[in-house]
Amino acid sequence: MANSPFDLENETGYRTWRDARLAAYPRSVDELIVPLADPRQLSPDEIAALGSRCNRANMAIYSAPPQNSADKSLAHQLARQLGLVRLEGNYLADEDGLSSITPAGDEGSVRGEFIPYTHKPINWHTDGYYNALDRRILGMTLHCAQDAESGGENALLDHEIAYIQLRDANPDYVAALMQPDAMTIPARMDEDNVARPEQSGPVFSIDPEAGFLYMRYTARTRSIVWKDDVITKAAVNTLADILAGSEYILTARLRPGMGLICNNVLHTRSAFSDSPGHRRLLYRGRYYDRLQFNLRPH
Ligand SMILES: [Fe+2]
Repeated sequence: MANSPFDLENETGYRTWRDARLAAYPRSVDELIVPLADPRQLSPDEIAALGSRCNRANMAIYSAPPQNSADKSLAHQLARQLGLVRLEGNYLADEDGLSSITPAGDEGSVRGEFIPYTHKPINWHTDGYYNALDRRILGMTLHCAQDAESGGENALLDHEIAYIQLRDANPDYVAALMQPDAMTIPARMDEDNVARPEQSGPVFSIDPEAGFLYMRYTARTRSIVWKDDVITKAAVNTLADILAGSEYILTARLRPGMGLICNNVLHTRSAFSDSPGHRRLLYRGRYYDRLQFNLRPH
């Protein structure tokens, strides 16, 4: 794409874009937070406020009154107003495609074998990193119905910032992670117990039509095979170092009524504790759409 800052030959365009991106990036998670009176019916000002955060960081955090925060339809209705329509798992369907992220009740259940449904921490990743390239998760939402008694924070980093920090370290590392065979996820069963074939793909790719940067990544070391060459290994190690200590990492603790909307940025979850009467519960949506803020509220 002509003049793309993601073109490794375009050093001038990259520098201009990079400097503006870093200057605009929020340095405190508080800058991401937008109060919403009613997520079911956004005002034009609220849409603009969410849009400005997402333009700066590919994400925003909303804070709505906690009443009815456990109502699943709220998260669904909010997403629709922001252009998130094609929900994974239930294409063009109703709110049932949202996943309830909560510790699985009984040990040994199928869900309990997958880390999202435990109290354990989750390392850096983008959602759907194991998806085929024609099923990229472009938008992701987390809505907090109930927070943990302690822990359960999310660290967040715009994947464009990770790209910048890696390119600044060495542009060859970015090139290595754009190889179509950079990262391979072996065939396996996913968290919904669906068999998935082996998936190879790049970590960083540029959408050929819209020109945005897409990132698929997991810091997991099991069930992932990196391309076995020196430059890819060095790139992966450098990216891991960036994620371990970037000054641009923002950490959020979602409380009931709060939520994250994002263009599938890098994120983690810390370990947490809760109890049977106070279970942490988040509704997660994964979409084949990116956020849009030019829609009229309805
Ligand atoms: Fe995730």
